[in-house]
Amino acid sequence: MTSGGDAPGMNAAIRAVVRAGIYNNMEVFGIKRGYMGMIEGDIIPMTSQSVSGIIQRGGTILQTARCKEFHEYEGRKTAYEQLVKFGIQALIAIGGDGTFTGASIMSKEFDMPIIGLPGTIDNDLFGTDYTIGYDTAVNTVVEAVDKIRDTASSHGRIFFVEVMGREAGFVALRSGIASGAEAILVPEVKGQYEKLRQYMINRAEKRKSSIIIVAEGEEEGGAAVIAERIKSEFPQFSIRTTILGHIQRGGSPSAFDRVTASRMGAAAIDALLDDQKSIMIGLANNEIVHVPLNKSIKLHKDVNRDLLKLAEIIR
Ligand code: F6P
Repeated sequence: MTSGGDAPGMNAAIRAVVRAGIYNNMEVFGIKRGYMGMIEGDIIPMTSQSVSGIIQRGGTILQTARCKEFHEYEGRKTAYEQLVKFGIQALIAIGGDGTFTGASIMSKEFDMPIIGLPGTIDNDLFGTDYTIGYDTAVNTVVEAVDKIRDTASSHGRIFFVEVMGREAGFVALRSGIASGAEAILVPEVKGQYEKLRQYMINRAEKRKSSIIIVAEGEEEGGAAVIAERIKSEFPQFSIRTTILGHIQRGGSPSAFDRVTASRMGAAAIDALLDDQKSIMIGLANNEIVHVPLNKSIKLHKDVNRDLLKLAEIIR
């Protein structure tokens, strides 16, 4: 099952789960539209052929949804009964913290082993260095910012570019460093507006162009709000705003995401064979690790402070 926001590489994960499952003589089903499909019994048998030709495709062939009914006990009970009806003995859930929160509650209420695979472009799950989709999203942002930089430098403009990350600045930080951004604003750091003002006072006049990367969950309220404030304080500059939006969630997954998703998918099957019941598969120092599902949700993964510092030094 894939659930919550989609992420490039989810299909590669589905493919690996199906094929590693079949390799280990398991019968594999796909649950459509996340917990919604689970409740409705929208469940289909998966074969090796049903996952042919999908490793390079973004999105998720199983589709996804955010499901309010699953927040209620009644909804989870119906979902569990559907799984039992189909003879399903374990669940592999690919998604982010919302998906894992639901999975974790369900695994406590009912007798159902659940393995989580981290699939979100936000990279905000504790216990894994990388989530499936993050690398692709970062590359999508970098490609877009490179293009914006061309027009920004032609016009000598300051561009505020908003990237995804309602609660986390991982996409902003990594793409900001990779695209040579002059400033990166993330939700994890407070009081950044003042720093940005100082930067405008000290640097911008000497520069032909500037790229300011803003994570959508940044404390001031996003790129449009900050751009307006800066515009009113520095009317001498030509300022534009671009919100990259859902382009970051689509597209063909990078080789890194395809390989990570494939490794994690196969590791989920191994974990079930090892009688694991409520864990997330993670990647730490390029090794597969098992993280208790509730730890992956409850513990906070911080952005890399060294990278934040680096971004300031080399801008
Ligand atoms: O996938 C995570 C995420 O991209 C967040 O960064 C973003 O705020 C959110 O999903 C938006 O998702 P949706 O438009 O599906 O509600």
